[in-house]
Amino acid sequence: MALKWKTAIVVGASSGIGADIARQLASQGCRVALVSRREAELKQLAAEIDQSCGSGTALVYVHDVTCYEAAPALFQQICRDLGGLDVIFYTAGVMPRIRPDEYDFEKDRLTVEVNLLGAIAWLNEAAMRFAAGNGGTIVGISSPSADRGRRGFPVYGATKAALDNYLESLRNRLAPHGVRVVTIKPGPVDTPMTKGMDKLPMRISSQSAAQQIVRAAAAGKQLAYVPWKWRPIMFVIRNIPSFLFKKMKI
Ligand SMILES: NC(=O)c1ccc[n+]([C@@H]2O[C@H](COP(=O)([O-])OP(=O)(O)OC[C@H]3O[C@@H](n4cnc5c(N)ncnc54)[C@H](OP(=O)(O)O)[C@@H]3O)[C@@H](O)[C@H]2O)c1
Repeated sequence: MALKWKTAIVVGASSGIGADIARQLASQGCRVALVSRREAELKQLAAEIDQSCGSGTALVYVHDVTCYEAAPALFQQICRDLGGLDVIFYTAGVMPRIRPDEYDFEKDRLTVEVNLLGAIAWLNEAAMRFAAGNGGTIVGISSPSADRGRRGFPVYGATKAALDNYLESLRNRLAPHGVRVVTIKPGPVDTPMTKGMDKLPMRISSQSAAQQIVRAAAAGKQLAYVPWKWRPIMFVIRNIPSFLFKKMKI
């Protein structure tokens, strides 16, 4: 099925969910800008996409999202190179492993910088462009871990909760301009981020996650759990009383 979008940016495109979102978009008729740090992975993905979807379908931009000051000029350059912009996916993210008794500020800072500040640096640019053009779609990849402060990854969950709130604010600001803002919450997905984590329930492939994410965003949903079963599960988890939740190892 062809998408109404013709031009897309994927920030965090070199692996996992972002790479598969880029493949999905390209296979459905989109020109796609691939943004992240690892040049070799991006070039390999671009070559694969160009081979199956036509030369020039994928463009490569090497960028570290913690270089916030570089984002505005790079965003403008990409829009010029693509000849417009219909949709942006912010999928860049990190989840450093931490022990149950570990409080490592450097890991925490990196998590905030990539998952939250990088998102703000890129999506503010998209918000301004889309508001001025009265249209466009912004997609942020959050997580069910935003829904409750669990013991495992305190700052990862906090960055996703803050991202949820930021995306909701963008949605409310941009609705009068006809701009859609989509929050996606995937459950466990088989990617380099979750490699070696053996106790993740209902894990799905990143191809399946990307397919469901692109479908939900194209349908104009404002919030989608992927797969949908996580919505009722998280409803229950959100409503577990605190005195019980403290005792649960989830
Ligand atoms: N996997 C899951 O179970 C799961 C569940 C819920 C939500 N998510 C979210 O889904 C998103 C994608 O995760 P994934 O599982 O696909 O992980 P992944 O395979 O590790 O991909 C992470 C992506 O983020 C990019 N990235 C990391 N640091 C960056 C930086 N400083 N500058 C630019 N790009 C950077 C990486 O590119 P470079 O290294 O090339 O820079 C890579 O493309 C993340 O936001 C994650 O939190 C994942």
